[in-house]
Amino acid sequence: MSEPVLQTKGIEKSFFGVQVLKGIDFEVRRGEIMGLVGENGAGKSTLMKIITGLYTNDGGTILFEGNPVVFPDPSKARDVGISIIHQEFNLFSQLSVAENIFLDRKDYRNRYGIVDWKKMYGDAERILRELGADLDVRTLVRQLSVREQQLVEIAKAVSANAKVLIMDEPSAALPDNEVQKMFHVVRMLKDRGVAIVYISHRMKEIEEICDRVSVLRDGRNEGVVEMSKGKVDDVISMMIGREISDYYPHSRRSFGQVVLRVEGVSGQGLEETSLEIKSGEVVGLYGLAGSGTTDFAEIVMGLSRRSAGKVFYKEAEVKRDSIKAAMSAGIAYVPPDRRKEGIIVMMDITQNTVMANLRAYEKAGVLQNKKIYEKVEEHVENLQIKCAGQSQQVLRLSGGNQQKVVLAKWLDRNPGLLILNEPTRGVDVGAKSEIYRMIDKLANEGLGILMISSEVPEVLGVSDRVVVMCRGRVTGEYVNEGIGQDVLLKAASSNAGGEENE
Ligand SMILES: Nc1ncnc2c1ncn2[C@@H]1O[C@H](COP(=O)(O)OP(=O)(O)OP(=O)(O)O)[C@@H](O)[C@H]1O
Ligand SMILES: [Mg+2]
Repeated sequence: MSEPVLQTKGIEKSFFGVQVLKGIDFEVRRGEIMGLVGENGAGKSTLMKIITGLYTNDGGTILFEGNPVVFPDPSKARDVGISIIHQEFNLFSQLSVAENIFLDRKDYRNRYGIVDWKKMYGDAERILRELGADLDVRTLVRQLSVREQQLVEIAKAVSANAKVLIMDEPSAALPDNEVQKMFHVVRMLKDRGVAIVYISHRMKEIEEICDRVSVLRDGRNEGVVEMSKGKVDDVISMMIGREISDYYPHSRRSFGQVVLRVEGVSGQGLEETSLEIKSGEVVGLYGLAGSGTTDFAEIVMGLSRRSAGKVFYKEAEVKRDSIKAAMSAGIAYVPPDRRKEGIIVMMDITQNTVMANLRAYEKAGVLQNKKIYEKVEEHVENLQIKCAGQSQQVLRLSGGNQQKVVLAKWLDRNPGLLILNEPTRGVDVGAKSEIYRMIDKLANEGLGILMISSEVPEVLGVSDRVVVMCRGRVTGEYVNEGIGQDVLLKAASSNAGGEENE
């Protein structure tokens, strides 16, 4: 068996006196895809940030090709061949694809400092072609889709002759149908001998792509599993230290009055869509990238312009294009991109949780801090937010725990209709089942819930009814009793109105 290219021994790290890595051993070999899993806050990203020189470790060593190394910053790690693609991308949106790939590389300047654009574009084109990416290297990065941006990140890593490529939740931002394309590129790199570290919460992907999997729990090594059929169950129980008995709790309940009625609504990305949700009902809204599911939510929420149609909350019509009208009517919307729309990372958990609902905590113009404290404790407890305390800055929470703070913020308003857009993206398996349990509980308490998701098992696991969209239209609607995955996939890739399929 070949020697590991990259290895860590006994890595330790504390933040403000709290030890988050307690002696981590880790390794990856040439041509191997090593999974790295663990619950939210287990320390995965921190370990990778230490390896690449973004954080310094308090103890332990990093070995690269058998020699101890310390990188003062990530660009030095990249120079020797260790590249990382972070949970949040690091591209310059105002620069072109080619410029991003070769950013801070001197080989494209002649001795007068003039950039050899022809060579740069040519090289960029060649790398992207090898990756099977059909991209114009002159396009500005901000015009690219998430998947295309990810390809640029991968191209950037490959251009530096990566021997190790670390991918921190690469599929979290991708729609389901694009994950396979990304896998294709990852396997190609593996065949070239690149050692790959693959971090993900999606066990299906871990099972499919990894050769071995390292499990972390609470900052400690839990073990390494050689992957083969059925092994993923071992991985899950090592991760959470318990069995998940009821992954998708789904109570039988009766529905009440209609809480949301959308009639023939059109707008950007949406054509004459109608939908009803009753109190106590969970409706799953499923679609592939660009299907219009997010446009639907944004138009209902008044975040995006409605050109036609009507929206009613209970009996009352909701004013067009006004988020305030939607919110005060009783509609809450949890967006998919927590950094952009959900939370303010510089503020703490308490501030983020109550900020959309301060009036509820006021008495004669004075904020009742005790009441706030107790309510936030309740959210932290219910959602199992892993933190040092309510006053922890959200920036310092792990990715999945940030997502839970977004949920807490909207639940705090006691809405009558809750729209969740990809609520479990980046959330670990244990916390996922907590979120499903919470959805079930809220529905039993009488909330109407619209859950937008691109994960079929999740849609089928939680919903009472499933609505499928494709190209801005509803292409299928099913009571969730024994419908197969294939039915949803088919509806998601068909045209509305029985037109010819592509
Ligand atoms: N810059 C920081 N300052 C303080 N604490 C931090 C910082 N970065 C991470 N932490 C803490 O370290 C712990 C591990 O976080 P890390 O981001 O490594 O988790 P993770 O395993 O990547 O989780 P996720 O799956 O949610 O992304 C968490 O408790 C987190 O709050
Ligand atoms: Mg992480």
